[in-house]
Amino acid sequence: MVKTYYITTYGCQMNVHESEKLAGILSKKGYIASENIETADIILFNTCAIRENAENHAFGNIGALKKLKKNNKDLIIAVGGCMTQQTGVAEILAKKFPFVDIIFGTHNLDDFGKMLDKKISSKKRVVEVLENEKQICEDTPKFRTSYPNAWVNITYGCNNFCTYCIVPYVRGRERSRKMDDILEECRRIVELGYKEITLLGQNVNSYGLDFNDENITFPILLKKIADIKGDFRLRFMTNHPKDLSDELIEAMLYSDKICKYIHLPVQSGSTKILELMNRRYTRENYLEKIKKLKEKIPNISITTDIMVGFPFETEEDFLDTLNLVKTCRFNGAFTFVYSKRKGTIAEKMDGQIEEAVSKDRIQRLIDLQNQIAKEISLEYKDKIVEVLCEDFDTKKEMYLGRDEFNRMCYFSSDENLIGKFVNVKITKTGGISLVGELV
Ligand code: 5AD
Ligand code: SF4
Repeated sequence: MVKTYYITTYGCQMNVHESEKLAGILSKKGYIASENIETADIILFNTCAIRENAENHAFGNIGALKKLKKNNKDLIIAVGGCMTQQTGVAEILAKKFPFVDIIFGTHNLDDFGKMLDKKISSKKRVVEVLENEKQICEDTPKFRTSYPNAWVNITYGCNNFCTYCIVPYVRGRERSRKMDDILEECRRIVELGYKEITLLGQNVNSYGLDFNDENITFPILLKKIADIKGDFRLRFMTNHPKDLSDELIEAMLYSDKICKYIHLPVQSGSTKILELMNRRYTRENYLEKIKKLKEKIPNISITTDIMVGFPFETEEDFLDTLNLVKTCRFNGAFTFVYSKRKGTIAEKMDGQIEEAVSKDRIQRLIDLQNQIAKEISLEYKDKIVEVLCEDFDTKKEMYLGRDEFNRMCYFSSDENLIGKFVNVKITKTGGISLVGELV
């Protein structure tokens, strides 16, 4: 009988794509994806460490697997990713959950197949977490799960060391993939019929810096991918404001394939807090970049990440953030309460903010951003937008997709339109997503 696997992914798009690599490794070994965790032969958790609640979720859900293991002694449970890569966590996990069979980190994800073989042949638990990153591995198979979108890594790791962030500690130093490898992957993706490519990196703007070659930069890469023949959209994330160059803005205008959409995390509107965060830009620098983006690309959609409750954040600092949000009028914002991460510089800072204060601030921030998003959404009424149909929502019984600006839109159709570009006239606005009719 064919063996099956079930993967649970926590965290960002990088992790979602890495789970596609784990699925690729398992598929190559003959396993197939299971819809049901309870009947799977292998259960794999790809974890996240960005905030404490991501870890708590994973710990809770791994604990709940004990029951499944009791009923099926042959079940293989594997846990990997950013959470397990942190110093000492693999040991804690191994001790707390003796029923977990394989524990690995971020640096040896490509070796998951070997670890699985080892577990099966030795019948012993395999715990392998490497201290340092290895060279980029180009031949890991991928089992893509997000058609019509395809994720493509362009960089791995991060050199920025924002003081709150665990990423540089669990993903190592920044490494860029060779341009030819990226272009080859993109060509193949387009040939296979994918309609959207999303380039992934912790900071895509610094792509190529490690090659020290002026012909290898992110704007050049973007243009080269856009030159690939075919009907597809091109997106990229995440951007660091300090590295957002005029060349990139110009490159965004180079082709209609490049979505006029950018995710540009600001984190805080207070220069004092930005400095404490080691973000290496001021409130004014950020506002200037936003102004330039809006001037050069008038219809651009901008989203951001914002954190409240960072150490030493006063009410005045927070009001600076609210004010910046009002000025920028982001199309969307991911908002977070600062979470202390072990081993980061901010962990040791005085001036930690009380939970009640952070809770109050995040609510005020969310209320403001919701109001702005609603106002922007109202501008869509009766407009016709081009949507790439991505999926069918069985609850709403409607198809859904996003326009170039990353705005979600629902519509009805008798025909299966997944993977097609369609025009939709917006009839209902005001919520997080739009509703429309095919035209
Ligand atoms: N606490 C809260 N939010 C964090 N982020 C990163 N580290 C932390 C932390 N320690 C947020 C940032 C980042 C996004 C991916 O997650 O806003 O841009
Ligand atoms: Fe973390 Fe900053 Fe690197 Fe982003 S740029 S991954 S927030 S350290």
